[in-house]
Amino acid sequence: MCGIIGYIGGKQAAPVLIDGLKRMEYRGYDSAGIALINDDGKVDLRKRKGRVSVMASEIEADRFPAHMGIGHTRWATHGGVTDANAHPHTSSCGRFIMVHNGIIENYENMRSFLAGKGYTFSSETDSEALVNLISYHYDERTVDGAADRFMESVRKALLHVEGTYGIAVISPLYPNEIIVARKGSPLLIGIGNGERLVASDVSGFAGRAQNVIYLEDGQLACVKKDFCDIITNGKQEVECVIKEIDWELETAELGSYRHFMQKEIFEQRKAIENAIRGRISDDMSTAILSGLNMSANELRQIDRILFCACGTAWHACLVAEYLIEKYARIPVEVEYASEFRYSNPPLDKNTLVFVISQSGETIDTLEALREAKRKGFKTLAITNVVGSTIARESDGGLYQYSGKEVGVASTKAFTSQIVICLLIALYFGRMRDLSFSDGREIVEAIKSLPDLIDETLKQAPKVEQIAKKYAKYPDFLFLGRLEEYPIALEGALKLKEISYIHAEGYPAAEMKHGPIALVCPECPTVIFANSGEIFHKVISNAKEIGARNGPVIMITDSPESIDEGLADDIIAIPKSHSSVRTVLSTIPIQMLAYYIAVARGCDVDKPRNLAKSVTVE
Ligand code: G6P
Repeated sequence: MCGIIGYIGGKQAAPVLIDGLKRMEYRGYDSAGIALINDDGKVDLRKRKGRVSVMASEIEADRFPAHMGIGHTRWATHGGVTDANAHPHTSSCGRFIMVHNGIIENYENMRSFLAGKGYTFSSETDSEALVNLISYHYDERTVDGAADRFMESVRKALLHVEGTYGIAVISPLYPNEIIVARKGSPLLIGIGNGERLVASDVSGFAGRAQNVIYLEDGQLACVKKDFCDIITNGKQEVECVIKEIDWELETAELGSYRHFMQKEIFEQRKAIENAIRGRISDDMSTAILSGLNMSANELRQIDRILFCACGTAWHACLVAEYLIEKYARIPVEVEYASEFRYSNPPLDKNTLVFVISQSGETIDTLEALREAKRKGFKTLAITNVVGSTIARESDGGLYQYSGKEVGVASTKAFTSQIVICLLIALYFGRMRDLSFSDGREIVEAIKSLPDLIDETLKQAPKVEQIAKKYAKYPDFLFLGRLEEYPIALEGALKLKEISYIHAEGYPAAEMKHGPIALVCPECPTVIFANSGEIFHKVISNAKEIGARNGPVIMITDSPESIDEGLADDIIAIPKSHSSVRTVLSTIPIQMLAYYIAVARGCDVDKPRNLAKSVTVE
């Protein structure tokens, strides 16, 4: 989703801004631009639809002497993907230049008010209304005092905004400052040596800042090259809380891999090891989850758990439901974060609310968390990004430590989330009915996972062959039962996301109630058939598909039990304890989606229309 960058300091700003924008490309965007203010107050502004490289190729960044400026990658919301709609936007008087992430819901009212005052617009965006409203407050002198008249104009304008924003504003009248503000969309201030950066995500700082200030909702900052002042939108002064950036956590290089998604699939052993590290008790029978910040007594009072998330993280919640209900016998409900916020479901007083978000910035998930907090519930979070808004605002939680995930399609973060949910199931289970020996069995299963993941990854060449065979097919079905039903959903989502093939996931037996109508030689079905009590039921479903000439791709831990001719293609996964099997079942569907997308020539890491971190509702 939109990326914001800003620089003020002693270096040439343009190369820093372009580098920062490139580092944030993974967030997903469709156009890019920068605006620079030279020391003499002259403004240079370039913006283009398409990749950052398109915009950058049209300018020789080194030629621009300016030492301050702002930049943006836009993910279109209001108005099509055009040069005119790309950011930065300038007020019609030319004195204020702004980049914006978020949605201004009342922009039409703003525009008609401003049009009545003679302001003009050159884009269809909501953002352009705001930069003109800033200009209006500046000109109308609704602001008092001369020294901070620029910041006051921004503050006054923001008081009229309904919606969300992360903004950075510059003006040739104030060549030594960048005004930033946030409500709902992330905004960080990076502190370098005699220079300051602003960005919507740490990666935009590209190693140039050693420390960071996370702006909170409702705060504005005036950023200068060697200090910054922060106030609330109610004009209260705010003390800067400076945090050190752990660049080891924030850096990801492609190395010998072709795509980040491929790299991240192959990093799952390490990601799972990190998720488990330090979280197993010495007697190997339960988990240690001190990050939950709740006493054993408080945890015993929990009668129900609600999970909220979006996208792939929502699928992790569904796996959590199976695991926690099975091992801890606590009823679990799963809601789409976006639905929870507005559906206002009744919740028992002893409900614990968990949100899961790789980025920790997804606005719907963040708002679900805030809604639960507002109602007085204890809210916990599972996130991968240290210091993210969700991590900061939850009462406690568990970091994934998966390492930076760059590919838009989430892979290692998903399997890490599953493992953390299994640790939660184990922990709650051992506080209730799960015996010491059952606990130890699960711990052993968890500890065996890294090796089993390596074994599963050895199937890559086979999956690649299968992918080439089916890459041109227009529709896919994914079927699984019990905890593999969410993995079927995830398989369908992965394929849609990066290869643009229509795909649907269903509980295997439910297939007869509609989706079977799709079965034909052009619609392959990926079906999970793993050992256990429902193995034979799933085999029957596979036969029903075969009888209708639908190609069957079977993912199974029991290839030896599959009759000749039942499946067109088999991907074998190692045998494992049922508590950890979803992790292994997931890997083939990730690889299948990846290799199909590659075979179709798709831009795997930057799929069309998608964003890594969705910061608008
Ligand atoms: C976007 C991404 C998905 C991700 C979802 C939730 O849609 O493309 O891959 O699963 O957001 O993201 P989160 O960061 O909250 O896990």
